[in-house]
Amino acid sequence: MTKHWKPLVALAAISWAAAPAHAESLTLASPDGRITVTVSDDKGQATYTVAYEGKQVIAPSKLGMLFADHHGFERGLAITASIRTAKDTTWEQPWGERRLVRDQHNELAVTFKPADGPDRQMTVRFRAFDTGVGFRYELPEQAALQGDVAITEELTQFGVGEQTTMWYTPSDEFNRYEYLTRVAPAGKVDDAHTPATFRNEDGIYFSIHEAALVDYAAMSLDQLRPGNFESKLRGWSGGPKVKTRTGFTSPWRTIQVAANAVGLINSDIILNLNEPNKLGDVSWVEPGKYVGIWWAMHIRDRSWGRDQIHGATTEETKRYIDFAARHGFAGVLVEGWNIGWDGDWYNNGDLFRFTEPMPDFDLEELGRYARSKGVRLIGHHETSANITNYENQMEAAFDLYEKVGVRQVKTGYVADAGDAVRIDANGVRHYEWHDSQFMVRHHLKVVQEAAKRQISINAHEPVKDTGLRRTYPNWLAREGARGMEYNAWGTPPNPPEHEAMLAFTRMLSGPMDFTPGIFDLRPNERPPLREDMPRGDPSNRPETTLAKQLALYVVLYSPVQMAADLPENYEARPDAFQFIKDVEADWEESIALAGEIGDYVAIARQGRKSKEWFLGAVTDEEARDLSLPLDFLAKGRKYRAQIYRDGPDADWKTNPYAMVIEEKVVTGGDAFAARMAAGGGFAVRFIPVK
Ligand code: NOJ
Repeated sequence: MTKHWKPLVALAAISWAAAPAHAESLTLASPDGRITVTVSDDKGQATYTVAYEGKQVIAPSKLGMLFADHHGFERGLAITASIRTAKDTTWEQPWGERRLVRDQHNELAVTFKPADGPDRQMTVRFRAFDTGVGFRYELPEQAALQGDVAITEELTQFGVGEQTTMWYTPSDEFNRYEYLTRVAPAGKVDDAHTPATFRNEDGIYFSIHEAALVDYAAMSLDQLRPGNFESKLRGWSGGPKVKTRTGFTSPWRTIQVAANAVGLINSDIILNLNEPNKLGDVSWVEPGKYVGIWWAMHIRDRSWGRDQIHGATTEETKRYIDFAARHGFAGVLVEGWNIGWDGDWYNNGDLFRFTEPMPDFDLEELGRYARSKGVRLIGHHETSANITNYENQMEAAFDLYEKVGVRQVKTGYVADAGDAVRIDANGVRHYEWHDSQFMVRHHLKVVQEAAKRQISINAHEPVKDTGLRRTYPNWLAREGARGMEYNAWGTPPNPPEHEAMLAFTRMLSGPMDFTPGIFDLRPNERPPLREDMPRGDPSNRPETTLAKQLALYVVLYSPVQMAADLPENYEARPDAFQFIKDVEADWEESIALAGEIGDYVAIARQGRKSKEWFLGAVTDEEARDLSLPLDFLAKGRKYRAQIYRDGPDADWKTNPYAMVIEEKVVTGGDAFAARMAAGGGFAVRFIPVK
């Protein structure tokens, strides 16, 4: 994060020392004392260690940074100053998993100076929360570090232990973040995106990620020695890793720590390490549920391009608007309405025209029609990662959407990793990574340009989330993992364990536009609509029961939740559809109740508007009995529980539609028990009895 340095004015305990001959070691503890981080300059190396209840989580691991044309910070380092502060405040989210977020932490800022080379200093600021640790580098303006600075390496290491179990996706393969979660001993993993999740031999769970990724390259984990990862920054084509100026700060490196798996979900560290809202009044940012001309393309009922089955026609869009209005959905996403989709759009990103509709699509009329029905169109900017082509048209494109009443735009960056097109001032073409500083800058540019017009963004094929929704609350959601679309055409489709993996991995970074709610669970078995457009592989299908599709609205958090299936499939199952109509997308409170990584997870959330509670649980390929205390419900109050659970003989493979819908009266003193079928789950709505 580039930030101009101001001296810290705070109530603080400051200690100064001349470069000591002996090693210095400073310890910072979380407010509850369970997590400690110890910082040292032993043997002239800056290191940190993290422990949980006295047991090591991160072994002594190196800190430091190297530059192209300046002396770096690696060897001969000594701690020369340290400042301790503490904070305990509560702030309010305009939308989110919970309204009130407590930021309680102890802080230690440690300044290191090297013995050799010109006089210079680097501060590493640590914050210890009850749910983990964050630290970042701060390089103030100084004589030895002036003007433009090119970072060639960040030397941060994470000694996690060779035998520690690691859940991760690979960071250097073509499909960006869209891989099934892999599990292996950490010592056997070459490279990984963050968040990466771990359980060590002491049974301690932890997750490594970053917060507040602004004007810097994203960090991935690169195996240095077995069980010891180094932070790898995604460089520019032609180098370096990061282009910045003094003084600057890096994003926060985060290590969440918990005694159990759900403890990782019940943490606000990432948001707490981001800057407060910079947009002021954001009452125009609207979380909510939407439908759209979307799944029809993925199951080949319709196409994005201009042919006989073009999806985004005026008539078809009106059908979706009418459906949305009938059932209370706020938005209708329309993909494939603008010029550029014909032919090979994956490779022809420079053909996209973001202000030119196809002849069979009347954007202005549809904007008006939608508003007359109390619905809004949701815009789409697929760029195929031709960034320069998009940026050249971006302002006009948002102006147009603003004019027709669009309040939310889904962006898309379909291209292989490392193939985002940047055309420089001389017209020379370069290829950049989706998680490079170039793309980090681009995404923020989009979000800021959209905010000027009160438009919110939902980015697909994005850079990973690092909590910037706190600073820019119009950045509603992202994709950045395998979503529902893989069940239409993915090889393989998402297996039954997928969502129970996501909850403990990808979802730790922030909301995901997963697009749940598929009701026709064998979409590729239907006869094709056109002979020259056969459906996908019939074995490609959501590997879930119907009840699990409903549970996903509670389990996988997003402030924008799609009802992804076709209108006719919902109207054929009004009983199950009722849950999607009732569930909220914005929460007063969220509590992860139980779960194990990749096995199962149960989450309760209280609706921000209705104050009703919702409970969702999903399992993997194993059927499971779950009994959960309802002590999150208000004491002494009765609730009508509307239950959607797997039928006794349900099974994702053989009998996915078997579902029991029933109602019971419960109180917070009860437990809720239900059996989840293989690939199943349940969803419950708790309505307070007046
Ligand atoms: C991939 C996105 O994830 C999907 O939602 C979208 O329909 C296509 N790209 C086309 O933009």
